[in-house]
Amino acid sequence: MSTYPPEPFRIKTVEPIRLLSQTEREAALEAAGYNLFALKAEDIFIDLLTDSGTGAMSHEQWAALMRGDESYAGARSYYRLAEAVEDIFGFRFFVPTHQGRAAENILSAVLVRPGQSVPSNMHFDTTDANIRARGGRPTNLVIDEGLDPQSQHPFKGNMDIAKLKAFIEKTGPENIPFGMMTVTNNAGGGQPVSMANLRAVAETYHAYGIPFYIDAARYAENCYFIKLREPGYAAKSVKEIAGEMFSLADGFCMSAKKDAIVNIGGLLATRDEKVFQAIQNELILREGFPTYGGLAGRDLDAMAVGLYEGLDEAYLAYRLHQTAYLGERIREAGLQIVEPPGGHAIYIDAGAFLPHIPHGEFPGQALAVELYRQGGIRGCEIGSIMFAHPDPETGEMVYPKLELVRLAIPRRTYTQSHLDYVAETLAQIQKRAASLRGYKFTYAPALLRHFTAKFAPL
Ligand SMILES: Cc1ncc(COP(=O)(O)O)c(C=O)c1O
Repeated sequence: MSTYPPEPFRIKTVEPIRLLSQTEREAALEAAGYNLFALKAEDIFIDLLTDSGTGAMSHEQWAALMRGDESYAGARSYYRLAEAVEDIFGFRFFVPTHQGRAAENILSAVLVRPGQSVPSNMHFDTTDANIRARGGRPTNLVIDEGLDPQSQHPFKGNMDIAKLKAFIEKTGPENIPFGMMTVTNNAGGGQPVSMANLRAVAETYHAYGIPFYIDAARYAENCYFIKLREPGYAAKSVKEIAGEMFSLADGFCMSAKKDAIVNIGGLLATRDEKVFQAIQNELILREGFPTYGGLAGRDLDAMAVGLYEGLDEAYLAYRLHQTAYLGERIREAGLQIVEPPGGHAIYIDAGAFLPHIPHGEFPGQALAVELYRQGGIRGCEIGSIMFAHPDPETGEMVYPKLELVRLAIPRRTYTQSHLDYVAETLAQIQKRAASLRGYKFTYAPALLRHFTAKFAPL
């Protein structure tokens, strides 16, 4: 059994967690209508719902909060953040935003016109929705290996360059206001993109005069994968690799709640001064003045410090190995996962684990609910509840290929024994997998139903 590098930090503040009794957990599930989003967070023992905004800040970040300058315009906090953004990403034109989707909203408002298309390897769901909200058409062109859960390709987040070229030719570059890449590819399992692929994507977009924007939520994890897996990068620092990555782009949007290890915050940057002016105007209308963008000064300071901590290589080695360790332990417990483990989460193949539960009875939900029932652990169904929809022409249900349960790992928050407990809980569930039953809706809204739906066990 391999372990992983010890946490490169020690614990100074603790937040107690408690495991409710079996009877209390059963009552909590019933009260929540078997929807894990409806549980009280305090009733959860280990919360792996998301890695977004759930990380632990460092003592330097907490100290930075106290240095926050709350001036409305031109605060010192803004200039400290601007220095970090220019140093790491090489961008001078940027605004802070309250989180990633605010950056996506502004970018889409400024650049997307109805009927236009925005290609990417895979858009995250908020990016997809923000492009659609402006009448645009988000398009996913990830390589085929990125859709095969058992493929061991080292860069499953890569764009299919041949498909991208064909798509641009068919659509016409004038109908593509910008192109994107998501690093790492969250919607595809947190899988990284290689530098060679990013360069080929940038060259392709630029050959057609299309600006290239990166969705940079987990750029540091992606850069560390490049260092580990891509020839020629082993001796480079992650910060150098990040510098090279962003030198290829004309702009980026970023949820800072991931690799900048803050509880709230985002960034939007561009090299185009005209676009920057439009971004500032849109920001002022909806979020706030360009030097704070809807955040407090102290949030900007925590982000400026967190951006560097997210690039720390001892931290990244621990982080990626921690995720891989959980994957290995879950495999040992007899469950299949999306291979190879990505940066921030393990995706369990619930469809393969519970073959007796059909799509329409939600195998992912059956496993996610059982994880809470057995061990007080919260994961997230990523399957038919989230993605099944009626065919607009036939009315027949179209089910996604995979029924997954995502276990996302908050940064610097849980230790190896927490992860061992998760794997041991799954091993116990594995022994009685055949007795697990599916669920049916008792209430389901038309859109984004996973957040508020209610269920009953079958
Ligand atoms: C790849 C990616 N882009 C954008 C976002 C949206 O960021 P936020 O939740 O900060 O709005 C997320 C959030 O999970 C993400 O994973």
